[in-house]
Amino acid sequence: MKALEGVRVLDMTHVQSGPTCTQLLAWFGADVIKVERPGKGDATRGQLRDIPDVDSLYFTMLNHNKRSVTLNTKSESGKALFTRLLQSCDVLAENFAPGALDRMGFSWERIQEINPRIIYASVKGFGPGPYEDCKVYENVAQCAGGGASTTGFPEGPPVVAGAQIGDSGTGLHLALGIVTALFQREKTGRGQRVECAMQDGVLNLCRVKLRDQQRLTHGPLKEYPQYPHGTFGAATPRAGNASGGGQPGWIVKCKGWETDPDAYIYVIAQAAAFDGLARVIGHEDWLTDPEWNTPEARLPKIDEMFDEIEKWTQTLTKFEVMEVLNPLNVPCGPVLSMKELSEEPSLRATGTVVEVDHPERGPYLSVGNPIKLSDSPADVRRSPLLGEHTDEVLREVLGMDDAAIAQARADRAV
Ligand SMILES: CC(C)(COP(=O)(O)OP(=O)(O)OC[C@H]1O[C@@H](n2cnc3c(N)ncnc32)[C@H](O)[C@@H]1OP(=O)(O)O)[C@@H](O)C(=O)NCCC(=O)NCCS
Repeated sequence: MKALEGVRVLDMTHVQSGPTCTQLLAWFGADVIKVERPGKGDATRGQLRDIPDVDSLYFTMLNHNKRSVTLNTKSESGKALFTRLLQSCDVLAENFAPGALDRMGFSWERIQEINPRIIYASVKGFGPGPYEDCKVYENVAQCAGGGASTTGFPEGPPVVAGAQIGDSGTGLHLALGIVTALFQREKTGRGQRVECAMQDGVLNLCRVKLRDQQRLTHGPLKEYPQYPHGTFGAATPRAGNASGGGQPGWIVKCKGWETDPDAYIYVIAQAAAFDGLARVIGHEDWLTDPEWNTPEARLPKIDEMFDEIEKWTQTLTKFEVMEVLNPLNVPCGPVLSMKELSEEPSLRATGTVVEVDHPERGPYLSVGNPIKLSDSPADVRRSPLLGEHTDEVLREVLGMDDAAIAQARADRAV
């Protein structure tokens, strides 16, 4: 049995943020019925295509374990079918531009009338306020939520992260909101509205930077590279690769960095493991030198310290550095490329990286469920073709017979 077996999700999501959420619910066992526009479907089916006329990896990697139904929710007969689907589902999830479902005639009030038990979950770019009507994509959210302002090097411009904290990050938040609302419904019998704004999701993930904004009013941020030689302005600055947790850390070069853009390792020079680190890099002298042998003494010379660490790491590969530093309890992590991650046997063994077969594109790699439940295994099934399950869902969920399905097709509702 899977954790969310018996939960049915009417999935009106598209692009990335919403599909991330409903894919998680599907992996946990929910029956996720993806409603797509007839003939078009989710725009990502056709975006960044690597093989002509085949669903893109963008789509296939965000829509595993779902069923696809085509339904024109703007036509009268389509609306009637949509209303019946709402009556049969536990959750409605969507991430259209603001007001799109209202324009179709499905306000929250109307949806509650149709099914008082339903949970209506949405991702929007912004919450109520000056930008509530704006359309938003990943990098807009990273900029508006504090991610870009606090990422990059002090002397450089704001930078967006490679991790999709705006889209996938908000999808994760929404999934938690949905299961929490389902849990509450167990007690109250009522559904509720669940809303996540991408700006809010990014800001939540940037929590420590708001922490630092407030610390700044009480003096310089001593773990930032601006201390003690640079200056601080009015806002939390960009900190390069400095560790946000109060332990000095930096990315240093390893053997081969001249030609390999990922020959780097992150090293944390934590006080608790400093003796071993100093010895291994050939600086046993630091252990007795009052200029070096306390965290306070080292603080103004962090860059010099990492220069010395880097002289040593450059003599070894990032994996050799790991082998030496881990037994010394020095926290460190290699900069792994997407190629290395896709080939990593331990990630294949846990199902975090999976190979999935697809009838039109053949086998492809995907990221499986990163959340492991001991009693709810997540098998990763391929994404559906556009409208692959239309007849099946109309028959099974709405109890329609062949004649009624033929009529829906004649009405161009599906
Ligand atoms: C992502 C986003 C910018 C895309 O905008 P877009 O491509 O213009 O798409 P929209 O969401 O506006 O939807 C387009 C239209 O298709 C319609 N549509 C969607 N599914 C339909 C269906 N099955 N049948 C009929 N019409 C449908 C919508 O109702 C909407 O029509 P309207 O503009 O007349 O109201 C926008 O959806 C958005 O801001 N979403 C919220 C934030 C978000 O999730 N962003 C991250 C995306 S990863």
